[in-house]
Amino acid sequence: MLTFALPKGRMLKTCIKLLKEMNIPCVNIENRGRALVIEEEGIRYILVKPMDVPTYVHHGAADVAFAGSDVIWESGASLVEITDTQEGLCRLVIAGPQSLVNLFLKHKSSLMGIRIATKYPNITKQYFSSMGIQPEVIPLKGSIELAPLLGLSDGILDIVQTGETLRANGLQVVEEVTQVSLRIIANNKSVHEHWDKLGRFLEKIRILKERKRL
Ligand code: PRP
Repeated sequence: MLTFALPKGRMLKTCIKLLKEMNIPCVNIENRGRALVIEEEGIRYILVKPMDVPTYVHHGAADVAFAGSDVIWESGASLVEITDTQEGLCRLVIAGPQSLVNLFLKHKSSLMGIRIATKYPNITKQYFSSMGIQPEVIPLKGSIELAPLLGLSDGILDIVQTGETLRANGLQVVEEVTQVSLRIIANNKSVHEHWDKLGRFLEKIRILKERKRL
């Protein structure tokens, strides 16, 4: 049986849409209630927190999964990236109030020790260290936009999709870190040792890619 990890939350709808486009059975996911494990025609779906998806795949608890490229980067896990679905498009950005914009206009050295609140501590450290800056990372689990409003941080590194949350909280994008999209990932070992399990699935991805010219 193939174990397929799906991210709970806002990306789940997009994942189900993609499964349908690939003609992969997924009716039971929509009628799951509170179940976290759903079986359907030889596939065991597991529903996990988006940030945990790479962990399940890396350790082989899931053979294959949908995961955002942001989450994959943050995890640093060793995985096989099978395809970029070009869905779930958004951006990872540095954002903050006008004072942060002003700080970024100054010499880079004035950013030393900058306080950045984020759900992405690893990406934040890597991004700033690539500029030769050591930030103070303030790890949070959600409502990141609150941090600069309360003086907890100078700025944030976070996902922007519509930009609505930033606007509603008087914050603006200062720099784009990277574009983000939903990827299909697999466990290294599953790809190499269980080709039989994955073969039929990979063929469906190939057809989807051809149809969408990915
Ligand atoms: C994400 C992200 C932003 C918001 C951006 O939070 O952390 O807060 O969405 O979306 P927008 O640009 O469309 O407004 P999420 O809704 O996942 O909630 P969280 O704060 O609990 O992480």
